[in-house]
Amino acid sequence: MSKLNIGIILGSTREGRVSPQVGEWVKQHADARGDANYEIIDIADYKLPLLGEADASEQAAAWNAKLNSLDGFVFVVQEYNHSISAALKNALDYAREAWNNKSAGIVSYGSVGGARAAEHLRGILGELLVADVRVHVALSLFTDFENFSTFKPAELHLTNLNEMLDQVNAWGGALKTLR
Ligand SMILES: Cc1cc2nc3c(=O)[nH]c(=O)nc-3n(C[C@H](O)[C@H](O)[C@H](O)COP(=O)(O)O)c2cc1C
Repeated sequence: MSKLNIGIILGSTREGRVSPQVGEWVKQHADARGDANYEIIDIADYKLPLLGEADASEQAAAWNAKLNSLDGFVFVVQEYNHSISAALKNALDYAREAWNNKSAGIVSYGSVGGARAAEHLRGILGELLVADVRVHVALSLFTDFENFSTFKPAELHLTNLNEMLDQVNAWGGALKTLR
């Protein structure tokens, strides 16, 4: 079977965000596995206005075309007020069928590993028919970042990252048969 295309989706768009550093770490270790085509997807590049507030048919088409090219996702999720960012929720709302019957893993961060945001995301993914896998990388703003801004992950997270990617690839391949 040909390699799956897995998008590493950066969930934050704010000035000064740390998500690009986390996404690069995921991509570096994912690429080293050689088992799939991994690509960083930056929501900020798609300039999606709040859903329904402006005519965004071009942006929506570009976003859906990108999602359609993917078989699975790794969501880089940051905790904002005990949930996911508004930017990520808006981007999730901009597509429907393009998410369906694909797999996903979660890499989250926050004061308690972004756990509350990750669990909220799982509920949303259920509605979008995205199969989110069990193993989850939970990074601490206190111990995996210096000054809450420079990403210095503990070595132990690599175990979960690899197990999570194993599951995303296995389910991504299985779900491809449904599409
Ligand atoms: C609006 C806002 C709300 C936040 N709320 C939480 C929170 O509830 N729990 C938490 O652990 N961190 C919270 N944080 C801290 C963020 O997780 C932290 O700033 C993180 O770096 C944000 O991700 P980003 O840099 O990719 O934007 C919040 C940050 C912002 C900007």
